[in-house]
Amino acid sequence: MNDTLTQIVREEVDLEGVKKRPLKEHPIAVFDSGVGGISVLREMVKEMPWEDFLFYGDSKNAPYGTKTRDEVREITFRHVEEFRREGVKAVAIACNTATSAAVRALRIEYPDLPIVGIEPAVKPACTENPGKRVLVMATPMTIREEKFHKLMDRYRDMAEIIPLPCAGLMEFVEKGKAGSKEVREFLKQLLWEYMEHPVDAVVLGCTHYPFVQKDIQAVLGSQVKIYDGAKGTARELHRRIKAAGLERENKNRIGHVVFQNSAPTKTKMALCEKLLVQE
Ligand code: DGL
Repeated sequence: MNDTLTQIVREEVDLEGVKKRPLKEHPIAVFDSGVGGISVLREMVKEMPWEDFLFYGDSKNAPYGTKTRDEVREITFRHVEEFRREGVKAVAIACNTATSAAVRALRIEYPDLPIVGIEPAVKPACTENPGKRVLVMATPMTIREEKFHKLMDRYRDMAEIIPLPCAGLMEFVEKGKAGSKEVREFLKQLLWEYMEHPVDAVVLGCTHYPFVQKDIQAVLGSQVKIYDGAKGTARELHRRIKAAGLERENKNRIGHVVFQNSAPTKTKMALCEKLLVQE
């Protein structure tokens, strides 16, 4: 377990008081359809442990991946508007689905707000596995969207890219069922074809999936290389915050993480804390 992460999660932060401080000292909002985005949040905390983060999981409206693009765009805009009201200094959309539905339009609507999105890590998977078979696991919406097709077109000469919509998988993570017999059974059905005709690499194109990485690896075998976009997104967020002159000056402090959820049951909030510190 990471010590910095355990310290951070126990802290509380006064969001109203924060607004009176200079913008540099405001928190960064990290948003997902549920608890999955915590796989990106934990990389952001490691990248910038001195910053404060507000993680908002929209578990009540999850899953996003089986909704229409307009529905997801509408919900995402509503949440970003709320973050603005709360006075955050930057927003990270830690959801591949919401990124493909809304990030471009959000940047047009809020030109002064640093906004970072996440996309499936197709680039490193293809460049590091030339001529090999690369399976991309993502939500049905991410795979349907133009953004993903453009990404695939860029790398399709380099490797054989196989997109796989995985409706139903994120629910296991939301229910705290990563590592369970049920999720293994589900994955065996979903991935049977690739158990028979192996792939060389797997891209986790949904931020919930890193929490079932061990299950995927157990089904497909330890030789398969797994890629996700969390670290790259954390680095990109850091770069943007610096470029906007919004980085905190005191790098010796340990920041706070506040969890908010649209379905804030005790079990859900405990799951958020557990996922943040889980290795
Ligand atoms: N975590 C989300 C993603 O990265 C979506 C899961 C869902 O709501 O379907 O795509």
